[in-house]
Amino acid sequence: MKKVLSLILALTLVLALAACGGKDNTPPADTKEPADTQQPADDTQKPADAQQPAEPSGEKKTYNIGVSIYQFNDNFMTLYRNELEKYFGELNSDTVEYKVNIQDGKNDMAEQTNQIQNFITQGMDLIICNPVQTSSADTLIDLAVDAGIPMVLINREPLGVDADGNTVDESYPGIVDNATVCYVGADARQSGTYQGEIVAALDNKGDMNGDGKVSYVMIIGDPENPDAQYRTEFSIKALTDAGIEVEELTAQIGNWDTNQGQQIAQNALNQFGDQIDVIFCNNDGMALGAAAAIEQAGRKVGEDILLLGVDALEECQQMVQNGTMTGTVLNDHIGQSHKAVDVAVQALNGESIDNYYWVDYVKVDASYFA
Ligand code: BGC
Repeated sequence: MKKVLSLILALTLVLALAACGGKDNTPPADTKEPADTQQPADDTQKPADAQQPAEPSGEKKTYNIGVSIYQFNDNFMTLYRNELEKYFGELNSDTVEYKVNIQDGKNDMAEQTNQIQNFITQGMDLIICNPVQTSSADTLIDLAVDAGIPMVLINREPLGVDADGNTVDESYPGIVDNATVCYVGADARQSGTYQGEIVAALDNKGDMNGDGKVSYVMIIGDPENPDAQYRTEFSIKALTDAGIEVEELTAQIGNWDTNQGQQIAQNALNQFGDQIDVIFCNNDGMALGAAAAIEQAGRKVGEDILLLGVDALEECQQMVQNGTMTGTVLNDHIGQSHKAVDVAVQALNGESIDNYYWVDYVKVDASYFA
């Protein structure tokens, strides 16, 4: 009898809940009510139902935003992530609150896919994603689009369309097919070009040992990432475009990581010695490692070797100023994170968004500080 009673009780509860309305399936972007029916009970957040008096105008709106960063353990993305969170915080007011939940993708695609799935289950109003693998971004985009949740991709450009919006991979559905998906980033070709131009502008055009050509070591971020591909290609293109003869001594993958950058530079310095004119690094993280290896090898930046990075980390800006680094390129984490947040807010307000937003790089060599 007890069992029957509790069964009836459970059934009544289920029916009562169903009568109150289940999950709102309309996309959050174009509705005035955030999809917060799955949030923990909080009277101020509950959508007004028929029995209650109409919501007083000016009631605070809460938006839940899920953010997945490819890996917390990354110099540049740490700056980016902190600025993103800070800027959302600055936009909080008496009328609106942005609740930001930031997850570490741990450089693991399965982990990140799981996070995106959880964001969807939790009824997030918007997802910001820094993909672990750009080639798998379409899977994440599909998940968000199917759930009707706007998605802002950052920092790692999903393959398929180049910075001019031209389709480079027909098989890839791309961002352009989806009105609620966009990418906010910087055109990595520009950063590569700036690295090369810094070298080409020197009196000796980068030929430190005077053998008539620029022999270089290339330390690559990760081969799958367009930032790494374009920086590798366009830094050298800027030299050859300036009529400079080049020779690649070695090109190796350092996974954006300082220790790996140091190891690669150390091995190259041992193997090639004075033949090396320039060490190009796809980012400053690896350039910091290379700088340590250069010092250990008794070489002097600006005198017998050149060192280039990208990001313009605070530390590297100081090194450019004191001459222990030839140059870097400002990867504007402030401009990019603010743009990502501004676009997110636009989407949350139901306004239309573009598919691509580009933020400029800035060349940072000695003249930048003059
Ligand atoms: C930055 C790197 C960073 C990478 C992460 C690049 O734009 O230059 O420092 O490791 O993004 O995706």
